[in-house]
Amino acid sequence: MSPLYLLLPLSVLLILRTHVQATPSSSSSRFGPGSASVHNPKLPPPPLSSSKKFEGSSDLVNLRYHMGPVLSSSPINIYIIWYGKWALPQKILIKHFLSSISSDAPSPSVSEWWRTVSLYTDQTGANVSRSVVVAGEYSNHRYSLGTQLTRLSIQQVIASAVNSGSLPVDHRNGIYLILTSGDVIVQDFCRAVCGFHYFTFPSMVGYTLPYAWVGNSGEQCPEVCAYPFAVPGYIGRGGTAALSPPNGDVGVDGMISVIGHELAEMSSNPLVNAWYAGEDPTAPTEIGDLCEGLYGSGGGGGYIGAVMKDREGRSYNLNGGNGRRFLVQWLWSPVLKACAGPNALD
Ligand SMILES: *[C@@H]1O[C@H](CO)[C@@H](O)[C@H](O)[C@H]1NC(C)=O
Repeated sequence: MSPLYLLLPLSVLLILRTHVQATPSSSSSRFGPGSASVHNPKLPPPPLSSSKKFEGSSDLVNLRYHMGPVLSSSPINIYIIWYGKWALPQKILIKHFLSSISSDAPSPSVSEWWRTVSLYTDQTGANVSRSVVVAGEYSNHRYSLGTQLTRLSIQQVIASAVNSGSLPVDHRNGIYLILTSGDVIVQDFCRAVCGFHYFTFPSMVGYTLPYAWVGNSGEQCPEVCAYPFAVPGYIGRGGTAALSPPNGDVGVDGMISVIGHELAEMSSNPLVNAWYAGEDPTAPTEIGDLCEGLYGSGGGGGYIGAVMKDREGRSYNLNGGNGRRFLVQWLWSPVLKACAGPNALD
């Protein structure tokens, strides 16, 4: 479900935030000798969701466990459905991010970022798995359900992939990740959500399987869903511009953070009955929602937080495998009771 970018009444949290001070200037970095600098740019706020950034530690965020399962079986098998037209470099970029979750890279790394997710446990004390693999892929390049999808027809996309035998039904370890290309219109995409996760219904798919959908916003609404690589109301010379994406693809680099958000929430709340805040299970606030738009220390109040900038001026906060760099939002830590990420400046 993950009502990513839905405006929930969390504004009360903003009043209580303690860390809103930040400086937009660069300083020398502990991340890589001379190769990167740290900056904390102030940007125009994203059109949705600005009420949800929250860095200060707080017991008032009442993230509670509702007795359901987490994804504790190892490895977590991701099955990707590429819906629509995808270029090979785009697929490789996303798969490099996913494979980075369980592989070593220089700190601050994607696998260190996932460590926050693995702090969540179920009622038996089992943690979310630290091992995540891409176990299968299926290309629906013929748009078999058209170029306009509803939330429910996304389940039919999964049904067609498993019923044709293209992807297995993996009850034990499987999660399904449906990625739509930039020309596919999805219900609520750009207006209320950039991605969501939920589980399939037996009447639609034949099974109950956790899944997430994320769309490429590059053509439709980059200033909403690929923020901060595109920002609303471009301000001309001398003003603030968008950040440069670490892999040169505004839409797909923007998807990476949304994919990270959804995977983290799906793993800690796969059937929407485990870890979430708020009283309304139809609009749960989950571990990604609480930290949306926050990528480093000193974020909030228009600042995204201190992140690194490479020699070409491209912003990132995590290292991955294959020499990749990514900019991925922070997640709520159940231990720190605050948003956390491995690039925190102590
Ligand atoms: C499992 O979660 C608990 C509680 O957050 C944490 O203390 C522990 O370090 C975690 N174990 C692993 C292996 O991540």
